[in-house]
This record gives sequence, structure tokens and C-alpha cells, in this order.
Amino acid sequence: MHLLLEGSCAPPRMAELAALADEALAFHRTIDEYAPTPCHRLDGLAHELGVGSLWLKDESSRFGLGAFKALGASFAIERWLRDHPRSGPVTFTTATDGNHGRAVAWSARRAGHRAVVFIPAHASPARVAAIEAEGAEVIPVAEGYDAAVRQAHAAAVARGWVAIQDTATPGYETIPEWIAAGYWTHARELEPFPHAGARPEVDLVLLHAGVGTWAAAIVAYYWHRYGARRPRIAIVEPTTAACILAGVKAGAAVAIDATRRTVMAGLDCALASTTALAALRESVDACFAIDDAWTLAAMRRLSTPTGADPEVIAGESGAASVAGLMALTTDPVLAPVAEHLRVGPESRVVVWSTEGATDPTHWEAVVGRPVPA
Ligand SMILES: Cc1ncc(COP(=O)(O)O)c(C=O)c1O
Repeated sequence: MHLLLEGSCAPPRMAELAALADEALAFHRTIDEYAPTPCHRLDGLAHELGVGSLWLKDESSRFGLGAFKALGASFAIERWLRDHPRSGPVTFTTATDGNHGRAVAWSARRAGHRAVVFIPAHASPARVAAIEAEGAEVIPVAEGYDAAVRQAHAAAVARGWVAIQDTATPGYETIPEWIAAGYWTHARELEPFPHAGARPEVDLVLLHAGVGTWAAAIVAYYWHRYGARRPRIAIVEPTTAACILAGVKAGAAVAIDATRRTVMAGLDCALASTTALAALRESVDACFAIDDAWTLAAMRRLSTPTGADPEVIAGESGAASVAGLMALTTDPVLAPVAEHLRVGPESRVVVWSTEGATDPTHWEAVVGRPVPA
């Protein structure tokens, strides 16, 4: 499953996002736990996959939460509280596959408020426990992630709670935009790029997507920073949850079959964010989908490096863009995508490991040893 695209237009509201992203970065720098996450050079893996160089931004240490998501949730909660200075105790609510809910719970607690998190009933016990450890109430939803999103919004309306949701629907766009602005910090930490020199410094960026908010934020960053000289950009999704691919094809957000599961829990979404989809359909060069086996292989490969590559601990969703690169460079079915993206021995590639071992039991089962202390 793939789509080759033109990538001909900058995403809408890029200037507004850039201004908000300045605010977000300034806010993040006030957080005690804030520190830029590392960007590793993986020469061993680059050589193996036949690309010129490979850089991996590693979110496993972000805020002690193991994923990038709090960059968005913390800024959205900060912005909401700034706009509502006289509010008493606030209950923030959200739906999650794990990481965003933990991020909302952590951010609400830091700000002295409460959180209620809706989560698919099939979520891993470790991910539920991590959210509860932040003091949040967790409500399981039997029908899965997209139903949890609907329930969180309904609860917010019925109970006077504030929904901090990382996916936009018509009429609910401001908070997702604040979250996206927070995600820009993730990309901004790459400045100056480690092997800065001749411009542009990067040829290809692979971004994985759930509802697409994170990918759309990073795409907007690249368009804003590099304009027409931006690197080529591709979106990677699980085959069973490729809602961006389906939405780009249909020209609008369409609900795909929500009953098919993927091990990439954070990407297990059946309906794309409307604003993210509107941005991605015009501004990226390809979308393609990969089976779960690729991300399991990427988790194993990152944990057993070759040459001077560091060990990277990546969760199932976290490893997805590395998995995408592995598939792109080795699976003949994706050869047209690799050709369209001009992947080859000269390519300088950036991938993102967006989470660490957020489900340690499953990581151990996949990799065959416990998560290192
Ligand atoms: C680890 C990880 N990576 C990537 C994503 C994708 O983000 P988005 O849903 O904004 O596409 C998620 C979403 O939860 C995630 O948990």
C-alpha cells in the first residue's frame, strides 16, 4: 500500500504555527525536566541499508516519560490555563493509546490540576499503570481508540472538563494546533544539525503517523525552515491503521476499519486529524504502509547495533520510521516509493524513535531480554 505524491504546497497556517512554536519552546525551557533528546548517528545501520548517512532522534528519555508526547500536551495545558487565568481546579481529559494520556496526566499534575484519561480496553497494563502513576483516573473503552476520542469529548461537554485531544475534528482545532506547536520543539532541537555544512543538510525524512498531528507538525517545520529546498518527506503507517493514506486517497478524512489491530499501539487510529490530513496531502512526497513484522525487526535491530552505533531502545510505535526505512530499502514491493524518494547511497536520512520501551514486558518478548536499566 503506497501513494506517490507531488508535495507541492507548504502546509496551511505555517506562519501561525511557527510563532506558536517559539512560545512553546520558551515554555519548554522553563520545565525543570526539559532537556533536548539525543540525535544519534547510525553509520552501521546506514551501511547495512545502503544509504549515505542516517540520523535518529531518540525520545526514550523525554521528560522521564519515554515518549515525545508531553512536548504537545504540556504546552496545550499551559496555553489553556494562560487563557483562563481565574479558573479553579480544572479536570483535563483526553483519549489515548498510552503516550498522549500519560503526557496529559503528567502535565495536568505539574500544573496542579486533575486528569481523566479514556483508553482502549485492550491497552497494555503497563501503559495504563504509567498513566495512573501520574495521578490520573483511567477509563477503559471497549470499542477502541476512536470511540475513546468521542467519549472524552462527550465527557468534557457533559461535565465541564477540558479536552486536550491531539487530533482535530471540524470545530475542534485550536488545542490540536497548540499541541502541534509543542511538537516543533522536537525538530528544533536538531538545530544546528549535527553534520551541518552544505545545504540542505538532509535529503529524506521519514515520519510515522497515527492521527497525523505529529507528522504534520514536523512537516510544517521543514517547509518553514527550508522552503522549496526542503528534504523529501514520506509518511509511514501500519498497514492495518493507514488512515492518512486512506484520507489522502479519498481527499477527506475517512474512517477505516477500526477492528483490525496493530502492534504499533500509538499509531492504531482509524480516523486522521482533519487539519493534519489537510496539511499532509499537499506537502509530502509519499505515504506508505508497513506490516507489524517490520517494526518488530526494527526494535530488534536498534537494540543490537553494529559498528559504533549506540544501542537504541525503541517501542513498537517508536521504531516505525526506522522500520519504514528498512522496508523501503529492502522490500521490492516498495521499490517505486524508494525510487520516487531517490533513496540511494548518497541519501542523508533522518528518522525518529518517538518512544522507548513504554511496554517493557512486550519489549522483552520481542527483543528476547529485559529492558536495560
Ligand atoms: C510513540 C508514538 N509515535 C508516534 C505517534 C503518532 O502521533 P500522531 O497520533 O500525532 O500521528 C504516537 C501517537 O500516540 C506515539 O505514541
